[in-house]
Amino acid sequence: MYDGDIELGRNDACWCGSGAKYKKCHMEFDERLQRLAEQGENVPARALLKTPEDIEGIKRSAEVNVGVLDFVAERIGAGVSTEQIDRWVYDYTVEHGAVPAPLDFEGYPKSVCVSANEVVCHGIPSEGEVLKDGDIVNIDCSTIKDGYFSDSSRMFCIGDVPPEKADLVRVTKEAVQVGLDALKPWGYMGDIGAAVNAYAKEHGYTVVREFGGHGIGLEFHEEPFVSFVTRPGTGMLLVPGLCFTIEPMVNMGKARIDMSDPNGWTVRTKDGLPTAQWEVQVVVADDGYELLSW
Ligand code: MF3
Ligand code: CO
Repeated sequence: MYDGDIELGRNDACWCGSGAKYKKCHMEFDERLQRLAEQGENVPARALLKTPEDIEGIKRSAEVNVGVLDFVAERIGAGVSTEQIDRWVYDYTVEHGAVPAPLDFEGYPKSVCVSANEVVCHGIPSEGEVLKDGDIVNIDCSTIKDGYFSDSSRMFCIGDVPPEKADLVRVTKEAVQVGLDALKPWGYMGDIGAAVNAYAKEHGYTVVREFGGHGIGLEFHEEPFVSFVTRPGTGMLLVPGLCFTIEPMVNMGKARIDMSDPNGWTVRTKDGLPTAQWEVQVVVADDGYELLSW
């Protein structure tokens, strides 16, 4: 194989776990990948492609992941501390037989990222941070269940939000849909980022370059890195079975970010203007894509 993965005999059981013979199952698919790799395309390693069994596992994880966000959605509001949100996320996740992926991830101290207003990402919950009328806030939940990872985030508008901030939240959500609309099996990853970036620009916004989406499923962050400032027709081929997130961070002002917070995590816009992010997790299918968490 182009990626050095083991070759199967025609009559061996297929790697996808179907139980069928390789020649009747994924042999042609692998030959297609091999040809594309020889043509110089950026083809995902076979280990990145999820089997039907993997996808079932990821879906069970995503069920908890979406459940956490629904639980938070019913309770969030002015006067709620971000620490309280962290406790909701931790308790709900554990009660549903799962583990919050951020906790202890590379030293991250909490179970969720809560990023308000000018915080681009990786806001660390604390007792002293209390949500107030007019805030926009991203709640980013990542979940491990039976070894499978899921990841999604939503924006919430707290009370009466000024129209410019509400527009940013809405347009960023629409940008994710525009990205999904550009997702075509056997197309290019760069098609997605190009569509997202164009949509954000049309509305006078900018897209953060340093952070993006990622492959996910058997690990929290797998290859590829998913940029949202790309050119169409570039990047990894969107091969069925590839599972990744679409999670653009869209700034009201300039794209530059400030990573100097002494806590080593929290990222802010350099100009201090508001920013928004929505995150979904998808798997490429033969005839489109399947949304796994949102
Ligand atoms: N949830 C983030 C993502 O979407 C990753 C956060 S890493 C953490 O990729 F450690 F801050 F949680
Ligand atoms: Co993510």
